[in-house]
Amino acid sequence: EKGGYEHYMLKEIHEQPTALRQAISGRLDELHGDVDLDIELPEEYLQSLEEIQIVACGTSYHAGMVAAQLFEEHASVRTSVEIASEYEFQGGRDPWRTLVVAVTQSGETADTLSALRKANRSGARTLAVTNTVGSTATREADHTLYIRAGPEIGVAATKTFASQVATLTLLSVYLGRHRSELGSSRASDVLASVRNLPGAVQQALDAESQVLEVAETYVDSDAFFFIGRELGYPVALEGALKLKEISYDHAEGFAAGELKHGPLALVTPNTPTLAVLTEGTRSKETLNNVKEVESRGSPVVGCSSLEDGGLLDAAFDVPEIGVMEPLVANVYLQLFAYHVANLKGRPIDKPRNLAKSVTVE
Ligand code: F6R
Repeated sequence: EKGGYEHYMLKEIHEQPTALRQAISGRLDELHGDVDLDIELPEEYLQSLEEIQIVACGTSYHAGMVAAQLFEEHASVRTSVEIASEYEFQGGRDPWRTLVVAVTQSGETADTLSALRKANRSGARTLAVTNTVGSTATREADHTLYIRAGPEIGVAATKTFASQVATLTLLSVYLGRHRSELGSSRASDVLASVRNLPGAVQQALDAESQVLEVAETYVDSDAFFFIGRELGYPVALEGALKLKEISYDHAEGFAAGELKHGPLALVTPNTPTLAVLTEGTRSKETLNNVKEVESRGSPVVGCSSLEDGGLLDAAFDVPEIGVMEPLVANVYLQLFAYHVANLKGRPIDKPRNLAKSVTVE
């Protein structure tokens, strides 16, 4: 049932190229720079849309953070992303010109369903982005967009994160095209990057032995830090979440520029930093932060598509595929978390105190 893998999590990490192909299958029209998503949002509504609010928890929240940046960039619509358990529909916003997007793999997360209900009550149009056909979220939202990742058994979300990000990227193109904010040639570039993603993820998976070596080098560290900018910031948060939940080590993700505003005090030679250095992450600036931590003696591991990763103690190669590169970096961070946890003998598929689907608020 685990297809020869020791854990579901590892199997699901390796299923990502397939999951991604399923997510994008039949949806790309690269020639015309368009997508076909089978969601029927009225044309006038899309054009007059003023605001998108994304609600989600945990890993899905990190996917939402990526999506928010892409919605703003590709569709020029102001987008906020809110932790579902903190969500309140703000009075004074125009519900008719608002779209609330609930991102939930299971479609059953109580906090996310509660936010979705608040949005429904406000009169805003709602869209569920989910993996689970017929889930509560699909029944309660006005529209549903499936991520088509296939079943995920490991408690730690891996392939569903990749499929969420890919699907939400297609949604950003859909919105951008219908709002006439995204030209067809730029849209084609984004879609080419999405098309190249499964192959690039496979290249990262093929480099697993290198990740294992790095995990062996740093397994006994006091803590692990993850840094990134722009699209690299949610990936840093996600890398830290994955590591803490399955290894029980202290791991934190930071916006790279924030290091010097406090967290740098935590940095020692026994706290490695993992940095996201790809397209879409202002990597040149992040390299300055890499220098900051290195000058405190902290080793730095980069997930990098840069030509010159000279200063790094170790570098995982991200193929140059454009805007989707941060998602390839994320695959390396998943493998790193997995191997650190596995070296420690943790019960990876069922970490203590956690459940796959959190059905209480
Ligand atoms: C972390 C993880 C959780 C879920 C969160 C939301 O690996 O799996 O953080 O992402 O509980 O779950 P869904 O997406 O089902 O709403």
